[in-house]
Amino acid sequence: MASTASSHASDSIDVVGDAVPQPLTSTPGDADRGRAIVGDRQVGLCLMCHTGPFPDERSQGTLAPPLAGAGMRWSEGQLRLRIVDSRRLNPDTIMPSYFRAAEGRRVGKAFRDQPVLDAQQVEDVVAFLVTLRR
Ligand code: HEC
Repeated sequence: MASTASSHASDSIDVVGDAVPQPLTSTPGDADRGRAIVGDRQVGLCLMCHTGPFPDERSQGTLAPPLAGAGMRWSEGQLRLRIVDSRRLNPDTIMPSYFRAAEGRRVGKAFRDQPVLDAQQVEDVVAFLVTLRR
């Protein structure tokens, strides 16, 4: 995790409108791995803020819109930008920027030691979110 390879990939990320249409890796994302990352309390921390289709709904966060249905509301590219760097869309968002684009950005205290996701993990998470169609 927090791999050093591709750590300067942020320069090559193409943001088009509110989306990153091109995958960050040539290996397609794996939705099962993405699900594991989103559900993991140490890696993604997504469930600190979001609810999602996971068994322990009660211990999930309510600071953010539910992830359920995200694959209907957003295209794959839009989801990718939201994971890579939500602050591009909303500078005041509490959602951390998960990819290296976040490097050098101010992050909240709780996230300062939080490993960002590597490119493949971003693709895995996006692949999972795309499947959330209701
Ligand atoms: C600290 C809280 C927090 C964490 C952690 C967090 N998010 Fe978010 N997220 C938000 C908030 C708040 C929004 C609403 C948009 C905004 O604030 O700009 C959001 C928006 C989103 C959206 C768009 C939702 C919609 O339908 O409008 C997606 C998808 C998303 N987050 C996925 C994730 C994933 C996947 C993770 C973990 C890898 C994650 N978030 C971690 C707070 C968080």
